Amino acid sequence: PAAVIVAIDGPAGTGKSSTSKAVAAKLGLGYLDTGAQYRAITWWMLTNGIDVKDATAVADAAAKPVIVSGTDPAAPTITVDGLDAAGPIRTQEVTAAVSAVSAVPEVRTLITDLQRSIAAEAPNGIVVEGRDIGITVLPDADLKVFLTASPEARAARRSGELKGKEAADLAATREALVKRDAADSGRKTSPLAKADDAVEVDTTELTLDQVIECVVTLIEGAG
Ligand code: C5P
Repeated sequence: PAAVIVAIDGPAGTGKSSTSKAVAAKLGLGYLDTGAQYRAITWWMLTNGIDVKDATAVADAAAKPVIVSGTDPAAPTITVDGLDAAGPIRTQEVTAAVSAVSAVPEVRTLITDLQRSIAAEAPNGIVVEGRDIGITVLPDADLKVFLTASPEARAARRSGELKGKEAADLAATREALVKRDAADSGRKTSPLAKADDAVEVDTTELTLDQVIECVVTLIEGAG
């Protein structure tokens, strides 16, 4: 059978990563976290003293870091210039800066090319999660899913992933999520949006297992 390509898009905190990893593991597919790639380039910009608010500086530096993504859903990896970036890309500094970096067209072109070649090389197919996968990166995907959830549910889930003081501040988490989504939806190049042919799944009232099952069923029906 031909390799199956699945695009999963949606705002932050809708369960894209948990769902995509589990679905890929279940069906023997690869997994690509495209948000991790934008976070990785953002981390490199911050550690190399690039002003992330300066789109020209970001565009000029965009091709310098070498970003490599491992696609095993059981143990996804990301390196920047050979350094393990899995930890540093999840800091609040990176989260606060990533929307500015990912809005720069030169960054998007580079990362999009990388994503397409990773998807093309996946032997059994791949689940790719992000914001613009169904519309821009892989418009010919076999299945497109758009996950949504209420801002309250998203903030609560994200808080559950954070530790200590950060987790306690639910209101601040909600505010940061909503702000990031507004930036990602409002940018000019490849904004966060649902493709016309994507299946929308509202996960507010669903458990993770229910969402996984729903996507697996959709994939089985898509072939
Ligand atoms: O998915 P995650 O929250 O890790 O994504 C981090 C950021 O990367 C998003 O807020 C967005 O700015 C950017 N992103 C993007 N396009 C994608 C995936 C992520 O612009 N396909």
